[in-house]
Amino acid sequence: MQIDGSSAVITGGSSGLGAATSRELAQAGARVAIFDLNKDEGKRLASQLNGVFVHCDVADESSATRAFLTAEKQHGIAQLLINCAGIAPMARIVRRSGPHELTTFEEIIRVNLTGTFNCVRLAAASMAKLDPEKNADRGVIINTASVAGFDGNVGSVAYAASKAAVAGMTLPLARDLAEYDIRVVAIAPGAFDTPMYGSLEQRAANKMLNDILSPKRMGQPPEFAKLVRHIIENQMLNGEVIRLDAGIRMAASYSD
Ligand SMILES: NC(=O)c1ccc[n+]([C@@H]2O[C@H](COP(=O)([O-])OP(=O)(O)OC[C@H]3O[C@@H](n4cnc5c(N)ncnc54)[C@H](O)[C@@H]3O)[C@@H](O)[C@H]2O)c1
Repeated sequence: MQIDGSSAVITGGSSGLGAATSRELAQAGARVAIFDLNKDEGKRLASQLNGVFVHCDVADESSATRAFLTAEKQHGIAQLLINCAGIAPMARIVRRSGPHELTTFEEIIRVNLTGTFNCVRLAAASMAKLDPEKNADRGVIINTASVAGFDGNVGSVAYAASKAAVAGMTLPLARDLAEYDIRVVAIAPGAFDTPMYGSLEQRAANKMLNDILSPKRMGQPPEFAKLVRHIIENQMLNGEVIRLDAGIRMAASYSD
């Protein structure tokens, strides 16, 4: 799909991978709408990009419905949806204090999985109404999984479950939406230098760096955004989960 002149929604676009994606797509000529809970950063970035910020909880039905309507009024139906909103609290299944809190598990699933599903279903229903163009995509949807969905380490059970589910949705979504010429791809990032990664303890972060093959460094958010751009522009990519991870296979544990 051609990015120039298109309308794009980026969830989690106020920070990290979503912010870099918002910049990349705006630079390529898209009208960008940032959906996020972080108002200050989101508004600042949206105004730099001549885009719009919409305060939105991706996992809340009415909040996301309102957000898509607001974005649509300003920019028209979104042809691009990039889901980057996510959270990553860590906890083991059993701790000295007792079992993993059920509420923590439910909250991670709510934001990472339900939030992704919620935005996909709303965006896809609108994209499907767009006039078909010969040999062209009606829309492209890109979800963010994680390498933790395949090789989750100690303490990531809820996060890993949410991200494995995001990966697992990719093919059935692509199959459901093929009749509308909407492509669906997921990216599974390794370690990227964002506020989320910064919340890891320094020693754990250093240990993780040792398991990256090459280049032995964290990914930078614009490198994620570049892949988003390529997926949008390359019509042959569909129904696939792409690891973007410099070859990392996470070890069982990064804690002491
Ligand atoms: N950084 C990494 O190393 C890494 C690795 C693998 C996967 N990921 C995934 O990439 C995505 C982006 O992560 P990041 O590193 O940029 O993190 P980040 O914390 O910098 O950005 C996440 C954004 O999501 C927003 N958000 C959280 N809950 C929300 C909700 N309910 N509704 C709307 N917005 C919400 C936050 O406000 C924030 O702006 C996440 O899904 C994360 O799980 C990140």
